[in-house]
Amino acid sequence: MTAFLRFHDLTKSYYEGDVRRVVLQNAHAEFEPGEITVILGKSGSGKSTLLNLISGIDQPDSGQIWVEGQDLTALRERERTLFRRARIGFIFQFFNLIPTLTVGENVLLPLELNRTPRLLARQKAESLLAEVGLLDRWATFPEKLSGGEQQRVALARALVHDPLLILADEPTGNLDEETGAQVMSLLTKLTREQNRTLLMVTHSLEAAAHADRVLRLSHGQFIAER
Ligand SMILES: Nc1ncnc2c1ncn2[C@@H]1O[C@H](COP(=O)(O)OP(=O)(O)OP(=O)(O)O)[C@@H](O)[C@H]1O
Ligand SMILES: [Mg+2]
Repeated sequence: MTAFLRFHDLTKSYYEGDVRRVVLQNAHAEFEPGEITVILGKSGSGKSTLLNLISGIDQPDSGQIWVEGQDLTALRERERTLFRRARIGFIFQFFNLIPTLTVGENVLLPLELNRTPRLLARQKAESLLAEVGLLDRWATFPEKLSGGEQQRVALARALVHDPLLILADEPTGNLDEETGAQVMSLLTKLTREQNRTLLMVTHSLEAAAHADRVLRLSHGQFIAER
């Protein structure tokens, strides 16, 4: 049985002038369907870099990343983009909603990119917004919403196209403790209900309590913390 997500011998470095800074060094890990993993690590340890590699936004120096048996590092950029749109949902620290689009239009966007038929897209978007308790804000612009509401819209947008893999980069980093805890419960509930795989970078102990597994990224490698 192969893991749902697996990376092997993953190395990534950045150059500043002639100086090479190694961020990931021969890192490996495996993740099962339905598993919620929290990734801890100091600032600059490479957590966001890892998520960018898994999502195919960035390419490793060497090593492989398999999602559902597909080696992402073997795909061309265009194929990686299509794979990302179809299979991955993202949640960021600063919500990253598009300010010129309404709440409803933000949630519809992943479906439009995947060419989902219009009526079905509308139904999916409405059902996800209902799940996060914001269906009545369909026509509102993001700037009119509180931080917690914006992150709930971002959650709906990340899940609306039924991704198998959800990547979250400090999703509660910009929310107060109570709001953060609400967003976290919602995210883990929606992940578990659909047997999705969630990788979440966070410093929140509350979030780590929701996880099946906690990994620490240190000196370019992953160490099981729990
Ligand atoms: N595009 C880039 N060019 C050069 N260096 C980069 C680039 N992206 C990241 N780095 C470097 O790689 C290292 C890891 O960065 P990364 O953003 O992955 O850290 P992080 O663990 O997410 O940190 P934080 O907790 O502060 O978000 C840092 O030293 C950073 O300066
Ligand atoms: Mg980061």
